[in-house]
Amino acid sequence: MSAGNSSIDVVVADVVPVTEMVKRFHFRRADGSLLPTFSGGAHIVVTMRDGERSRLNPYSLMSPPTDTREYTISVRRDDAGRGGSLFMHGRVKPGDRMTISYPVNLFSLDLRARKHLMLAGGIGITPFLAQTAQLAADGGNFELHYAYRNKALGAYADILSERYGRRVFHYEDDRGEAIPLARLLATQPLGTHLYVCGPAGMIEWVLNAARAAGWPPETLHYEHFSAPQPGKPFDVELALSGRRIHVGAQESLLEALEAAGVDPPYLCRGGVCGQCETNVVSADGTFLHNDHWLSDEDRESRCKIMPCVSRFDGRLLVLER
Ligand code: FES
Repeated sequence: MSAGNSSIDVVVADVVPVTEMVKRFHFRRADGSLLPTFSGGAHIVVTMRDGERSRLNPYSLMSPPTDTREYTISVRRDDAGRGGSLFMHGRVKPGDRMTISYPVNLFSLDLRARKHLMLAGGIGITPFLAQTAQLAADGGNFELHYAYRNKALGAYADILSERYGRRVFHYEDDRGEAIPLARLLATQPLGTHLYVCGPAGMIEWVLNAARAAGWPPETLHYEHFSAPQPGKPFDVELALSGRRIHVGAQESLLEALEAAGVDPPYLCRGGVCGQCETNVVSADGTFLHNDHWLSDEDRESRCKIMPCVSRFDGRLLVLER
């Protein structure tokens, strides 16, 4: 699904500072009608038009899924990134028109679970705001463990405690507090599903511990979006047409293809869904794989790349398209 036939025109209804690093953005449909329904864990892709250039970044929806008058997302400022979060923080204001994709859920709740054990780190809290709202509305059984650096950076920590009381547990890194993972994994009732969203290291830590403790794979859920990284510019050639496209230092391969009028498929733009998988015909350099999709075999074959997050360090990359 490219964004071409599946986008929604919205107005920025509000921009709210949450912490020194995080702002919340409220979107309403430009024509005043309701937005599409979604389920907790869904994300949208926000198109940021910056002069000639467009950036498309995925963000988790955090508003209650039952209320489709508006969507809300939270954006953490990343001063070292490619500029998407800085654009949102510095340029987007109430009244602006923007384009978003329809919601897609790659981190959905498994409603067969008898209990939902949720572990969040930092800005990874956002999908859980929607998921806890969904479960609370449906009488679901959940427990949320939220780790953040300190109180000032714990976005929505107080709101979550106000809403859900003793079902929410907080851990401040600066105070030496940590999620008691081994104990949590060892003491859950049969039928519990585990959900984790946060920094890559935290996700790996949680999943490795859960697997080692014998949790079945189908009970483990995680959201592991990568942001495209800046890097050296390179050229790609499209084998069918012979067209050459330049990929700039600050744009992803996917964005460069789109800017050139090619319409590759995508869903997550974060290296997890597999939609943008592209065959490579030849490459005279090094692949910089940043996705969570390709297998080690795929990578070793040098025959596949995920244009949404991965780059290439070399003279020419020839794609089968
Ligand atoms: S769009 Fe999902 S992996 Fe690239």
